[in-house]
Amino acid sequence: MPILDAHTFEFFSKSPEQTRRLGIRLGALLRSGDLICLQGELGAGKTTFVQGAARGWGALDEVSSPTFVLVNAYRRPDGAQFSHFDAYRVESLGEAEELDLDALMEHGPLFIEWPERVEPVLPVERLWAWLEYDSEEHRSMRFVACGIRYERLLDALRQTIYGAD
Ligand SMILES: Nc1ncnc2c1ncn2[C@@H]1O[C@H](COP(=O)(O)OP(=O)(O)OP(=O)(O)O)[C@@H](O)[C@H]1O
Ligand SMILES: [Mg+2]
Repeated sequence: MPILDAHTFEFFSKSPEQTRRLGIRLGALLRSGDLICLQGELGAGKTTFVQGAARGWGALDEVSSPTFVLVNAYRRPDGAQFSHFDAYRVESLGEAEELDLDALMEHGPLFIEWPERVEPVLPVERLWAWLEYDSEEHRSMRFVACGIRYERLLDALRQTIYGAD
């Protein structure tokens, strides 16, 4: 897998299971305050990735696509909370601001689908991923770290996947 630079990590997934497994690896590394933005078209695999991440983080419940609410929260036995915000149906930045994303991040990691729709209200430090549909079962995923915390996170992710580099 090519490593473009210290801030970037690319992954090619050949199945939903593989996308979920990558999510599990990342999820296990996350802590409160972490923000993961997942950009990609309908069916790119964003929710599939979040399902793995919540499992790796230790969530008790399965992740589903948020349908009636913008934010779903999943709990862990220690009381921490994993938040999953689907910005697809957000109608204004004000609506996104009212969700108080900072408060959500105090209790655990936050994942956002369609983050480009609410980008102006997001912290500048974050991990941003682009997911692309290549073919029926193939997806390209490109992660870019903004901020030292996320560079370290990508390093740790690389190490869990490929060993020390
Ligand atoms: N390699 C892959 N990685 C992830 N999903 C895949 C892959 N190959 C096929 N799929 C399928 O593509 C679909 C991805 O759906 P998913 O709900 O994760 O997309 P999404 O990006 O969240 O879409 P939306 O914008 O509608 O929320 C699933 O049906 C999944 O099984
Ligand atoms: Mg989705």
